[in-house]
Amino acid sequence: MSYLGIDLGTSGLRALLVAETGRVIGSVERSYSSEHKHSGWSEQDPAHWIAALEDAVRALRSSYPDFSDLKAASVAGHMHGATLLDKDGSVIRPCILWNDTRADAEARVLDGMDKVRDISGNIVFPGFTAPKLLWVAKHEPEHFARVDKVLLPAAYLNYYLTGDFVADMSDSAGTSWLNVADREWSDTLLNAGQMRQDQMPRLVEGCQPAGTLRPELARKWGVSNAVIIAGGAGDNAAAACGIGALNEGDGFLSLGTSGVLLAARDGYHPDPASALHTFCHAVPDRWYQMGVMLSATDSLNWLGQITGKSPSDLTTDLGDTLRGPGRVRFLPYLSGERTPHNDANIRGSFTSLGKDTTRNDLTHAVLEGVAFGLRDSYEALIDTGARIDRLLAIGGGARSQYWIKLIATVLNVPLELPKDGEFGAALGAARLAMIAHTADVADRVLTPPEVAERVMPDAALQPAFDSAYQQFRSVYPTLKSVSSLS
Ligand code: XUL
Repeated sequence: MSYLGIDLGTSGLRALLVAETGRVIGSVERSYSSEHKHSGWSEQDPAHWIAALEDAVRALRSSYPDFSDLKAASVAGHMHGATLLDKDGSVIRPCILWNDTRADAEARVLDGMDKVRDISGNIVFPGFTAPKLLWVAKHEPEHFARVDKVLLPAAYLNYYLTGDFVADMSDSAGTSWLNVADREWSDTLLNAGQMRQDQMPRLVEGCQPAGTLRPELARKWGVSNAVIIAGGAGDNAAAACGIGALNEGDGFLSLGTSGVLLAARDGYHPDPASALHTFCHAVPDRWYQMGVMLSATDSLNWLGQITGKSPSDLTTDLGDTLRGPGRVRFLPYLSGERTPHNDANIRGSFTSLGKDTTRNDLTHAVLEGVAFGLRDSYEALIDTGARIDRLLAIGGGARSQYWIKLIATVLNVPLELPKDGEFGAALGAARLAMIAHTADVADRVLTPPEVAERVMPDAALQPAFDSAYQQFRSVYPTLKSVSSLS
């Protein structure tokens, strides 16, 4: 028996085949790009997702005979994207992605409306789905008039796979149309966003069957007609399933293009004012909360570009021993910020540069600024009553030992590094498929990976980083007034 996890990412699709024991059989990746027609815009043609999926399945089939014994599949998708379908199920315009900020004004309007934060449990961020539809209504009324269904990227793949309009709770929670406490579409929120119930997909939990593979696809893929497609998940919920962050006390820190600090929650404890995200988890009766910073490794990549050095050279040049905070501060808001500022227009900054400032000082300040941004999310999570007993560090940035030591010290929390292997959103999706097929208990399937190393905070430097963090927090108001001048 085998299970397929599909991670529909922003830059590519990863398909992972897993055996019933949880052993990884093999994986394939296919990339695609995003279009940025104007500043702040980010779009993708859903046809590219399908082409990537079909190509990945072809490659998996030819390399791994176990594929023919496929029992279930599920999709983890990049969240918040708006895929608009007409009454024939055809895509009306390119999907507007999570990192598209054109709907800033519409998000503000929705966010200010009565009950919207209460019911959705979140600020309406410009990247969320509802403001995108208001933008389309205003700027592309001919497209808006044809909208029969709105699907998130993962739900669009569910539609391709099953022929049915069906989405999971964790991804749907990021639309600003879902009542996140009750796990159902909210008429109040839909009305506020000029949408209707009949334009929404049916809802299922991520680990429940959403349908079966269309017979034409089953024939094409050489598998049985009975392949179950599970509800799937938004990519962060799926990553949490991949590393076994399911219960209160479990969490992860993901150091990717964006930085995510996520805590699993047994109950629903929204705190929109903190700019934390509070979403349904991919299993029933669980939620998760996360702080999202938009430029994590992106900040280091930017420094690499302007200094002509690779990010790994920059961090290697710092040596192995953690330095204390210097004079230079970096505010990592190169693309605006979500948590804690909810500010699409703010931009980053270095402060206290001198003639004696070296490239290493700048690198250190950038790593530290990202760590301070994550501390903002950490403080917000703790304020909601979240317990964080263990924090696994994942994502490309976690390969820098120096950065991980720095973040552990700034958060004053040990960080665990998983052993090499599979623990991302694709594995989470494959595990959801397995639960949908076997009806096994989620806690038994969604287990943590083996830990290779536990990185402890540097107790001697912790107080100095604490005061530097207070200074970091005091810069934002000035920066905001400067940003509003430009
Ligand atoms: C979460 C978010 C991103 C996307 C892309 O709110 O916008 O993490 O899911 O991966």
